[in-house]
Amino acid sequence: METKLKGRHFITEQDWSVEELETLFSLAADLKAAKKAGRTTPLLDGKTLYMIFFDASTRTRNSFETGMTQLGGHAIFLSPDKMQISHGENARDTANVLSRYGEGIAIRHCAYGEGNAYLREVAANSRVPVLNMQCDIYHPCQILADYMTIREKFGKTRGLKLGVAWTSAPNYVRPLSVPQSLILMMPRFGLDVTLAYPPEFKLMPQIEEQARANAQSAGTKFEITHRFEDAFENADVVIPKSWGPLVTTQDKTEGLRLIEKYPAWRCDTKHMALGKKHILYMHPLPADRGREVTDEVIDGPHSVVYDEAENRLHVQKALMALTM
Ligand code: CP
Repeated sequence: METKLKGRHFITEQDWSVEELETLFSLAADLKAAKKAGRTTPLLDGKTLYMIFFDASTRTRNSFETGMTQLGGHAIFLSPDKMQISHGENARDTANVLSRYGEGIAIRHCAYGEGNAYLREVAANSRVPVLNMQCDIYHPCQILADYMTIREKFGKTRGLKLGVAWTSAPNYVRPLSVPQSLILMMPRFGLDVTLAYPPEFKLMPQIEEQARANAQSAGTKFEITHRFEDAFENADVVIPKSWGPLVTTQDKTEGLRLIEKYPAWRCDTKHMALGKKHILYMHPLPADRGREVTDEVIDGPHSVVYDEAENRLHVQKALMALTM
């Protein structure tokens, strides 16, 4: 594929214009149709993607790796404990070497205060595009898939209300990256976003500020509330999911205590009934069933979580084909 996007890093969707992202969505739709029709799409024949995972993954690893296979290329799974990163090799040396071998480097690094900085250091020293598979600040590939799913279901997105709500999931402290990328990108594509969280679960101030600026430029709404139900009332789409109180405290024990303070922040059919008749339930997965959401909702008629997970494959194939 020859576009101006060849060689571009994808660390945050905020760095790409709406037109550039539209190019990606258009190619993602074509690649999805081609796969359905059984047509091969060897756009990355002979090319290699290095995938460095500092954190666990089901969807991201398998959709990137499968995507590279379907594009005729090859993906290599790497983890720091099996690399010289474990002996202290720095981002500069890792980037310089890998980028002389292959055509792309994808990284998941969610440690708070470290992940995004690591990606940027690799990008600054890489000859090939660096793709963000989730960091402490952004999860742009997830939000590309979310947007593709919403547009497929409604055919348009301007004027839709999206509720993004914090939920109580006490088994571990999750990153801020999903809600942050959601509030940054969705208002740029015409959605009105209501973000609901208990006060201790605020997002990074600069991200909330950027989301407000994005909404203002796009003529859409962005509001923050501390009432769970506000995200659901009259909503077209809801994405209720957990994140840690990382801006308030990085102490794990205190973080888990704060998560336990709000057990009522759980999505059930009563909350779903507050939305429009056609309301969609979305979640990036993995979901903490029974704590974040009831089985009745996530397995129910409004849930599109598997379509959403599938679209990770299609948007990431488009991303790789355009940049690598
Ligand atoms: N949604 C998501 O990123 O899933 P994984 O953590 O399984 O990759």
